[in-house]
Amino acid sequence: MGPAGRAAVPALFPPLPLLLLLLPPAGSGAPARPPPHVVFVLADDLGWNDVGFHGSHIRTPHLDALAADGVLLDNYYTQSLCSPSRSQLLTGRHPIRTGLQHLVIQTCQPTCLPLDEKLLPQLLKEAGYTTHMIGKWHQGLFRKECLPTRRGFDTYFGYLTGAEDYYSHEAWVTIKALNFSRRALDFRDDEEIATGYENVYSANIFAKKAIELITNHPPEKPLFLYLALQSVHDPLQVPEEYVKPYEFIHDRNRRLFAGMVSIMDEAVGNVTAALKSRGLWNNTVFIFSTDNGGQTLAGGNNWPLRGRKGSVWEGSVRGVGFVSSPLLKRKGVKSRELMDMSDWLPTLVKLARGSTNGTKPLDGFDMWKTISEGSPSPRVELLHNIDPDFIESAPCPGPSMAPAEGGPSIPESSVFNTSIHAAIRYGNWKLLTGNPGCDYWFPPPSPSNASAIPSPDPPGKTLWLFDIDQDPEELHDVSRKHPQVVQHLLARLQFYHKQSVPANFPAEDPRCDPKDVGAWGPWM
Ligand SMILES: *[C@@H]1O[C@H](CO)[C@@H](O)[C@H](O)[C@H]1NC(C)=O
Ligand SMILES: *[C@@H]1O[C@H](CO)[C@@H](O)[C@H](O)[C@H]1NC(C)=O
Ligand SMILES: *[C@@H]1O[C@H](CO)[C@@H](O)[C@H](O)[C@H]1NC(C)=O
Ligand SMILES: *[C@@H]1O[C@H](CO)[C@@H](O)[C@H](O)[C@H]1NC(C)=O
Ligand SMILES: *[C@@H]1O[C@H](CO)[C@@H](O)[C@H](O)[C@H]1NC(C)=O
Ligand SMILES: *[C@@H]1O[C@H](CO)[C@@H](O)[C@H](O)[C@H]1NC(C)=O
Repeated sequence: MGPAGRAAVPALFPPLPLLLLLLPPAGSGAPARPPPHVVFVLADDLGWNDVGFHGSHIRTPHLDALAADGVLLDNYYTQSLCSPSRSQLLTGRHPIRTGLQHLVIQTCQPTCLPLDEKLLPQLLKEAGYTTHMIGKWHQGLFRKECLPTRRGFDTYFGYLTGAEDYYSHEAWVTIKALNFSRRALDFRDDEEIATGYENVYSANIFAKKAIELITNHPPEKPLFLYLALQSVHDPLQVPEEYVKPYEFIHDRNRRLFAGMVSIMDEAVGNVTAALKSRGLWNNTVFIFSTDNGGQTLAGGNNWPLRGRKGSVWEGSVRGVGFVSSPLLKRKGVKSRELMDMSDWLPTLVKLARGSTNGTKPLDGFDMWKTISEGSPSPRVELLHNIDPDFIESAPCPGPSMAPAEGGPSIPESSVFNTSIHAAIRYGNWKLLTGNPGCDYWFPPPSPSNASAIPSPDPPGKTLWLFDIDQDPEELHDVSRKHPQVVQHLLARLQFYHKQSVPANFPAEDPRCDPKDVGAWGPWM
């Protein structure tokens, strides 16, 4: 079943003593190329069907050109929501290990990405990099120790919460139980409140900041730039000129969203142009990724994949991503090799010639040879998530989606409680249990076809098995045909479940209220 034992493949290659002899001995000959600059652009809630290179009606010429000149990651996975995905990128570890497997960090929750985790920017800094972050943090803000500038970034410019107004840069919090409601600025330059940016769209601000950093960067010093764009998360806001080309889209949300993707595409084009004009590009590894799938309630689209942001269906976790770089050994190819968001940390630290010393046990794998040379992925298994407290963050259209308590499909001898929201991948197989989240298919809205396609599954169903390679749309549950695969994957889920730390999801603290401080930020 599946490509078991792939991790052992390198042992099959004959040793290459000859090749080693041909390499110049250390310390002699031409100076080694300095470690590459790493520019990581993270889009927010960008769906599978929201980019030109996936055939979307939304035009993304800059992204398309970069992807065409790089390696398209076609079997690449993220978490289903912002905070967990970003935590994986920064720690190289699964959220079941950091307590971030349940929803996202709320603005007023007194918690953050655990302070005993050593993060990617810290490791790159130790390897001699200058580290900058621009954009959305969403890893907690209740204490100063949680802020990006205390977690390995030399500089930071952006916002700390999960969503805000693109022009006023204000975020709002409503806690009904506490009768608490507040709207306040969330914009920071390092740790200082950043004012004077009102009425300027965030994609323009963030691109400009990135270009300033690139322009002032000494090319001989390795650069790490983490550009976590606000685009294209809700609210649906964008300058009118970017929406004009999309008058053919009748659905208002989709039309505005298309404009938001377009300005994001332009921002990326401006940043890569700066890297080129400064002479950094020839030694840059440029990564573009989404943090999770599209939110169909806010203009995003994942067609033909099933589901949307917040679920464990492919539409939520199969991510848009590519690597573009003159350092790639192959270009213009699609990588079908399995990859996860947590793989970036070991991959990038290795490229930086750094060390992962000091991290906790990593879930990620070094993927550079897979990406650059097409070697088989060292990853054969991928845990999507296990969240016993799962709740739907937005109602799924159609009949009640109540999670089944002991539905009919639970095998008697199950080693894993199949009422739990969970999903795991092994080779081509994907097993889902519990309530996976909104299970509709959402065709891109059009006048002739605006309705979602409901799930054919009976209510109370709690187990599915798909062959993702054959059936990426998750149309044909094959769990009855492959009981042994099901049992194996349930055992793997139980294996991970036993290692999970409980979700860290404390009650919100009204002391977060910025009152006269003027901006959301540390309160403890
Ligand atoms: C909630 O706050 C509003 C505005 O401060 C106030 O008018 C209202 O009485 C409060 N309600 C409760 C239940 O405390
Ligand atoms: C990209 O650069 C052009 C030229 O400087 C500028 O007009 C445009 O606003 C920039 N776009 C973004 C999104 O920053
Ligand atoms: C990149 O280009 C710069 C300027 O053209 C040059 O000095 C440098 O040697 C090049 N680096 C590499 C790795 O090719
Ligand atoms: C890892 O870090 C520890 C503590 O900083 C240090 O003692 C050890 O020598 C390091 N190991 C390697 C292989 O760098
Ligand atoms: C199985 O998981 C569900 C959902 O998390 C939970 O409500 C139920 O108590 C669990 N059952 C057992 C026997 O642990
Ligand atoms: C809706 O549109 C999509 C994409 O254009 C198309 O593939 C699909 O078959 C349509 N669905 C229905 C139910 O008409």
